[in-house]
Amino acid sequence: MEAGSFVDVPKDLLGEIERLEKLFTIDTAKLKQITERFVGELEKGLTNEGGSIPMNPTWVMSYPNGYETGTFLALDMGGTNLRVCQITLTEQKSEFDIIQSKYRLPEELKTGDADELWEYIADCLMQFIETHHGDTSKLDKLPLGFTFSYPATQNYIDEGILQRWTKGFDIPGVEGHNVVPMFEEALARRGVPIKLTALINDTTGTLIASAYTDTKMKIGCIFGTGCNAAYMEDCGSIPKLAHLNLPPETPMAINCEWGAFDNEHVVLPQTPYDIIIDKDSPRPGQQAFEKMIAGLYLGEIFRLIMVDLHDNHETHIFANQDISKLRKAYSLDSSFLSAIEEDPFENLSETAELFQSKLDIRANGPELELIRRAAELIGTRAARLSACGVAAISIKKGYETCHVGADGSVFNKYPHFKARGAQGLREILDWPEKEDPKADDPIEVLAAEDGSGVGAALIAALTLQRVQAGNMHGILHPENFK
Ligand code: BGC
Repeated sequence: MEAGSFVDVPKDLLGEIERLEKLFTIDTAKLKQITERFVGELEKGLTNEGGSIPMNPTWVMSYPNGYETGTFLALDMGGTNLRVCQITLTEQKSEFDIIQSKYRLPEELKTGDADELWEYIADCLMQFIETHHGDTSKLDKLPLGFTFSYPATQNYIDEGILQRWTKGFDIPGVEGHNVVPMFEEALARRGVPIKLTALINDTTGTLIASAYTDTKMKIGCIFGTGCNAAYMEDCGSIPKLAHLNLPPETPMAINCEWGAFDNEHVVLPQTPYDIIIDKDSPRPGQQAFEKMIAGLYLGEIFRLIMVDLHDNHETHIFANQDISKLRKAYSLDSSFLSAIEEDPFENLSETAELFQSKLDIRANGPELELIRRAAELIGTRAARLSACGVAAISIKKGYETCHVGADGSVFNKYPHFKARGAQGLREILDWPEKEDPKADDPIEVLAAEDGSGVGAALIAALTLQRVQAGNMHGILHPENFK
């Protein structure tokens, strides 16, 4: 018998499972409806009127050809860590060397004071440079690509006006401002020998890094703490850039910021739990799509279900137990759900141990069945919804076959995410059932190359190349490219 089958589940819990199934299941027709609206919203975001998806031009204006060279620093400020790398793109086609250090991003900095954040980052960079280059006083300024993975409008590649914080960040005084001078001032105060050449979104980095080693890569996605995608558009299809008279065939990478899809709640079926997630988040009304898919929220959706079933329903799961640990918001991350979905045992004994050790809760057999099913439903919904975004970009661009480079903790670690996403794509795009289970799908979502390291270095190199060739579009500080 399969782990987690429902033979012994009493009727009232079965009723709850069925209720959750109804709430969280997204059938083929709904997937198609969501995708159709998604295509329209991608288009709307490229126009002057705009829509809820920002569709930010990034000033990355070509794919790499594999022969880029040079040594660059890259800084990645993601949702959880800071990473500093030095990347050397070698003479060998599509090859690179990398050295890197990771620094923890202290939780309190995410909701603290902007200066403290920038200074912490400057200190990490300084430490890295001192370790790998020695005496900094004699160094020429090193070129740096800064992967800043939040929605930012970019009039220039070396400028980024933060539209809003996402992923639980909430630092006052940054939204609506250009983050580059803030960052540069902190570098200057600390005497860090760096010149910023490009501000990059992780998805754009992922697209470019993946295309460096695989020319079929057309979309870069992140399914991690947050969720988003980038792809290459033609300037002629971006009405909001028409005033710049760019050659219509010239490529321009677009950072979609698709986490904002359906903020107006037209097609996404919100459950009562999604409504609470949104209401209690630092930015209610924002990132509707992201809040159903990204790793930051999956564990919290699950926690809200558990608390609800303890408090509000006739079933009263975990009856007469102290669930105070479970009541702590955001105390379960997506790795908790992964562990539940990965429990190989018929009696779900690993899940029982997990509940006991982490939450001091003793879950009985039927409760464990419900727990397992809830995790599956949340994980499956996330993967299937993510397929709507991938399908929408593919439809908009007319890609019938391509590769999609994906990165992030949910994509890399959440069990079955890839297979469930692939199944979603199959249903949306009406692919026939595979005869050979090993055959590739027309559109394959594959593990990406390192976007915020190698991708950032490549973007710095590509920008340098085009500036040297006289293409100064979107360059605010040409002196940084000398
Ligand atoms: C951010 C995006 C980012 C994504 C993945 C979202 O919350 O708004 O800029 O690409 O997370 O990291």
